[in-house]
Amino acid sequence: MAHQSNAESETADQRGGDTPQAVATTEYDYSNFYYSSSDDLFAIFGPYDDWWYGSARNSGYYLFSQPMSTPPGARINLEEQLHHEHLKLFNLASYNYLGLSTHPEVIAAAHAALDKYGLGAAGSPILSGTMDVHLALEKELAAFKHKEAAMVFPTGYSTNVGLLSALLRPGDWVILDQNVHASIVDGAILAKAQVKFFRHNQPADLEKKLKGTTGKRLVVVEGVYSMDGDIARLPEMVEISKRAGARILIDEAHSSFVYGAEGRGVVEHFGLEDEVDIHVGTFSKALGGQGGYIAGSQSLYNYLMGFARSRVFSCALSPAVTAGVLAALQIVKREPQRRHRLWENVAHFRSLLAAAGVDVAESTSQIIPIMIRNDRKILGIAQKLQKAGLYLQPIIFPAVAKHRSRFRVSISASHLTADLDRAAAILIKVLREEEIIK
Ligand SMILES: Cc1ncc(COP(=O)(O)O)c(C=O)c1O
Repeated sequence: MAHQSNAESETADQRGGDTPQAVATTEYDYSNFYYSSSDDLFAIFGPYDDWWYGSARNSGYYLFSQPMSTPPGARINLEEQLHHEHLKLFNLASYNYLGLSTHPEVIAAAHAALDKYGLGAAGSPILSGTMDVHLALEKELAAFKHKEAAMVFPTGYSTNVGLLSALLRPGDWVILDQNVHASIVDGAILAKAQVKFFRHNQPADLEKKLKGTTGKRLVVVEGVYSMDGDIARLPEMVEISKRAGARILIDEAHSSFVYGAEGRGVVEHFGLEDEVDIHVGTFSKALGGQGGYIAGSQSLYNYLMGFARSRVFSCALSPAVTAGVLAALQIVKREPQRRHRLWENVAHFRSLLAAAGVDVAESTSQIIPIMIRNDRKILGIAQKLQKAGLYLQPIIFPAVAKHRSRFRVSISASHLTADLDRAAAILIKVLREEEIIK
């Protein structure tokens, strides 16, 4: 979920207005419940519940967090939460880009580790929580990324929070693309660094924003932007950062293991692996697992061992998941055909959307936003899609700016062409009925 940093998404309520009293209205969204004028910390719960049960839930917010009873594959079973129906749906919403979450070798490796180590690591990685399987994954990952060292974290979120808060101090500058993930923003806030945002993927604006800064500076971009599906203009970003003497970090949560001839990400795609100072990624997308990593120098690893508090003070990644991720990484190295299949699927689905005139903004990747740009209408469309047999999550504020609502399609190598054809047909039919396209 990207963090909305731009001032245009801030409402009067966020800027300090009181919580509205009359709340049974569909006009409100999360932004109306950010502040309350009461001295009681819990006073906000009453109006929030009134809004939630009175209008939000039934008008479409129930669509969030609906439980699945199957793996996140191409077809899923979902427990619909409004009428409590069991639905069988085509799934275009899960990451699982290479279809590895259910690969037999991945499952077998996780099973074996479960038998060998038990359920959890039962300790912080710097105390008793490091097992041989964690070190094996770090070693394998460092070799894969052609870096001196790699460090594993329990989640991608805690990776960014730990990394930024370990490196930056009050007074240091962090210059962020305005669409970076919430974990990057939260890490910068925790570090109490000075933050500037540059216009999404605009090198000229990065240059402008860097000009007013001195001292230690870190520029942060993503490989593929999580809500937009466009690729960082990395050559220009690297050139500008280097010229200004700033360090550059890339979060390849959505591009590691899928971009580049060998899957080393957008840095490999552009031939810039040695130019970027810090490489971050997750195991929860293309590898179908959980956890995050940082790849870079041995000195960076050494320092983070002492200062990355989200890792130092948190239990290590479960050994079963760690072993499963390690097996998934072996498959990525061995089977480039999975990436090829993914890109064939992406090209096919894109061509179906393009022929129907669907607005996918600037996306060029396996993440394809279906732009609706209407924060209320999108919830009704999502319900209609679900009834027609297609699972797509509406993405609304605060995940994206207001009036930038969209569905986010995630294409996987595990989708069959027939699934994609059927899913596109449902989507296009509903978008036509709702007059989003002609
Ligand atoms: C760019 C980016 N970084 C970090 C994360 C957090 O990763 P995780 O969900 O594995 O904690 C995400 C999650 O969507 C992301 O998109």
